[in-house]
Amino acid sequence: MLPLLVLAVCVLQGDAASLVNGSGTMDEMGICHCSVALPDSTFPADRLEILEISNKDLSVNVQEELTKMKSYQATLTGYLQRLTNLTRRVEVMEMGGIAYTELDFELLKLEIKEMEKLVIKLRESIDGSNTLVEALYVEIHNISVMVNRLESYDKNNVLAVRREIALLRKRLQDCEKNQNNQELPPINYGTCNHGGIVNISKPFVVQLNWLGFPYKFGGWGKDSYSGASQNVHWVAPLTTDARMMNLFRSYPTYDDLLLYKGATEKVFTRNVAYNNYDYSSCGQGGGVIMFNNSLFYNCYNSRDICKYNVDTNGVERKTLTDATFNNRFSYSSSIWQDIDLASDEDGLWVIYSTEQNAGNIVIGKLNPLTLVVEKTWMTSQYKPSSTNAFMVCGVLYATRTLSTRKEEIFYMYDTKTGKEGQMSIILDKMMENVQSLSYNPNDHKLYMYNDGYLVTYNMAFKPMPNPA
Ligand SMILES: *[C@@H]1O[C@H](CO)[C@@H](O)[C@H](O)[C@H]1NC(C)=O
Ligand SMILES: *[C@@H]1O[C@H](CO)[C@@H](O)[C@H](O)[C@H]1NC(C)=O
Ligand SMILES: *[C@@H]1O[C@H](CO)[C@@H](O)[C@H](O)[C@H]1NC(C)=O
Ligand SMILES: *[C@@H]1O[C@H](CO)[C@@H](O)[C@H](O)[C@H]1NC(C)=O
Ligand SMILES: *[C@@H]1O[C@H](CO)[C@@H](O)[C@H](O)[C@H]1NC(C)=O
Repeated sequence: MLPLLVLAVCVLQGDAASLVNGSGTMDEMGICHCSVALPDSTFPADRLEILEISNKDLSVNVQEELTKMKSYQATLTGYLQRLTNLTRRVEVMEMGGIAYTELDFELLKLEIKEMEKLVIKLRESIDGSNTLVEALYVEIHNISVMVNRLESYDKNNVLAVRREIALLRKRLQDCEKNQNNQELPPINYGTCNHGGIVNISKPFVVQLNWLGFPYKFGGWGKDSYSGASQNVHWVAPLTTDARMMNLFRSYPTYDDLLLYKGATEKVFTRNVAYNNYDYSSCGQGGGVIMFNNSLFYNCYNSRDICKYNVDTNGVERKTLTDATFNNRFSYSSSIWQDIDLASDEDGLWVIYSTEQNAGNIVIGKLNPLTLVVEKTWMTSQYKPSSTNAFMVCGVLYATRTLSTRKEEIFYMYDTKTGKEGQMSIILDKMMENVQSLSYNPNDHKLYMYNDGYLVTYNMAFKPMPNPA
């Protein structure tokens, strides 16, 4: 559009030049400047005046069009970015690279519809045609067609077929493992008839915590009391000082979590007087866990364990005798996590450290009703040289960092036998730092808070060793 207008102005200039002897130049703003040399002969002053006026009008028009173009350009750039994102996601889906869910699909369709509407509006608002907008329209239409095609596939049960294929693939893998005499025991959630962890899946990134990227510290998961309802998902980002847990959210279902909707938010800070807050019920560090509908955590600025009942909002607390706190012996990738709660098939645990045990990990079996530590085990693993720890079937597993992308489960302590040892199972990470890690016996998954992202891993267990 712009070059046409410029041309028009210059043609006019040409007309003027043929009438009087003049030449024109145009500056960067698209305004024409004329210099006119008057011939000696009779001068057509009236016509020159008309030409001057039209020239001015045209300059104004050029300015207006330029401004419009600029705003279209900005809108277009935004659309193009979104389009690139959408295209990438559709391509991934088309290739079947990830097992997409019906929910992903519906979201994608909604987004595309919205973009289609927007681009049609944009098209109407520009009278005449614009190649950029046309190209965008074609692309969006193309994507829409692609997704509809995917959907029509799905009417033929592509999703079901894909699940079938995944099952077959799994059976094939199982067969291969059988050949290596590596038969995995049938999955039996909540029980311990297996011989310990054999492998861990790739990370599955569920989403970013609802407060966003700056909230790098925290914890999340489901109720990890054996047999508890598994619908509710809780998320507890710490404040950006990496220390205080002053609130958490629980989402009634997994889909609500994904859509950031339907959450119940509980706040621990109490406003006791004007500008005077009570932080004593707040938590400290990301060692939080949900167990039997109560949140268990290290109480703020203390060596106490807090138990927050989600139904009654009541808080109970009990001092964890001898435990060190306030960053004396935290984990290497997350400060303020001196006292880390955990749960497994055997119940509730607390992982901490004492001066007597020289900063090495102490495992305590915690009574969820009285908050009393009923038994303790002293390990020889220095707590600050591990990044986190969790319990499975009465065995403590500790992790350490191998690189920005890899974490290793490198140490274990079996509370049933008192045996400890080294091991190596690698976990891939999306982000650099592990801020919390806990196991849920109800789904055999690890829940990680990874620089603000909520991530899960599936765990596979070895068969029971033969009682030779
Ligand atoms: C216009 O001016 C140019 C030089 O400036 C001259 O060569 C040309 O002959 C002039 N034309 C007329 C019509 O006067
Ligand atoms: C596109 O995706 C990237 C990350 O994949 C994100 O940072 C960016 O904000 C997205 N752009 C739009 C317009 O949604
Ligand atoms: C639509 O997308 C497909 C796949 O990316 C591509 O091959 C095709 O050329 C596109 N058509 C148009 C009109 O852009
Ligand atoms: C463990 O998992 C990794 C990645 O998920 C896989 O490549 C590897 O083959 C698995 N090992 C065993 C012994 O199953
Ligand atoms: C679980 O919660 C129920 C209801 O509050 C309570 O009766 C029961 O004793 C609790 N059990 C454990 C192990 O905490």
